Amino acid sequence: MAILVVNGISKSFGGLQVLNQASLEVAEGTITGLVGPNGSGKTTLLHTIFGLIKPDAGTVSFRNQLITGLKPHQIYEVGLAFSFQLPRLFFQLTVLDNLLLAARNHIGTSFASALFLRRRWRRQETELAQKAMQILELLGLVHLALHPAGELSGGQRKLLEIGRALMADPVMILLDEPAAGVNPVLGRRIYQKLYTLREQGLSFLIIEHKLDILLDFADYIYMMDAGRVVLSGTPKEVIENPVFYATYVGETQNAAFRS
Ligand SMILES: Nc1ncnc2c1ncn2[C@@H]1O[C@H](COP(=O)(O)OP(=O)(O)OP(=O)(O)O)[C@@H](O)[C@H]1O
Ligand SMILES: [Mg+2]
Repeated sequence: MAILVVNGISKSFGGLQVLNQASLEVAEGTITGLVGPNGSGKTTLLHTIFGLIKPDAGTVSFRNQLITGLKPHQIYEVGLAFSFQLPRLFFQLTVLDNLLLAARNHIGTSFASALFLRRRWRRQETELAQKAMQILELLGLVHLALHPAGELSGGQRKLLEIGRALMADPVMILLDEPAAGVNPVLGRRIYQKLYTLREQGLSFLIIEHKLDILLDFADYIYMMDAGRVVLSGTPKEVIENPVFYATYVGETQNAAFRS
């Protein structure tokens, strides 16, 4: 069953049509990959799904509910989380505090409720800290819980950014290039963690340029080119399709032409 249905999304910036009736579906409990050359519209599509960009046309449904036009925090509340390409961390705060802050933003604990509902607030804080530690355990970051986030390596920062998304108890996470900028070993380790979460029932839509890693972990792949979905299938079907190579070769030729 599809947990996310993206139907006919179009978007122009100025005169540039960046998305041209892009459609895709993510089946529940899968890792679905979104690939394609630079500038093909992948990030714009993910941002549109998460409510960061308003589409000119098209709809997005999540768990059979129309979410087009909702704000990111409203989308977060229905169980769809977003992990940013560049981790949005507070480098001077500890790893643990970065997770707690993500959760507090989410539940929106106000100063007033902290004063008047102190006992409940304390209990909630304890529960959140336990949850944060469980997430750090899963991500292999427990030993760094009390270190400033600024001390983490690039790959560990990516994991912490995923941890921030997990604090919201999402049923699905959108990720933009989780393996970018980290070495291949760590990149694979990140995907192994995502795979563990998939086995627990989470669903993923993931943009990735590191195809050798993605294709090993994804259940299904969509390929974009010039704002459209041009190809989809299992990893095996996609790499056996000539369109896959033609699209990337086109990119290489254009890049050579530009330089
Ligand atoms: N806010 C914006 N204003 C104007 N143009 C934009 C905006 N956002 C994206 N674009 C343009 O839209 C096109 C698609 O960009 P997008 O970032 O979605 O591509 P992408 O597939 O994620 O590429 P990459 O693989 O390099 O990350 C690009 O030509 C980009 O310059
Ligand atoms: Mg992008």
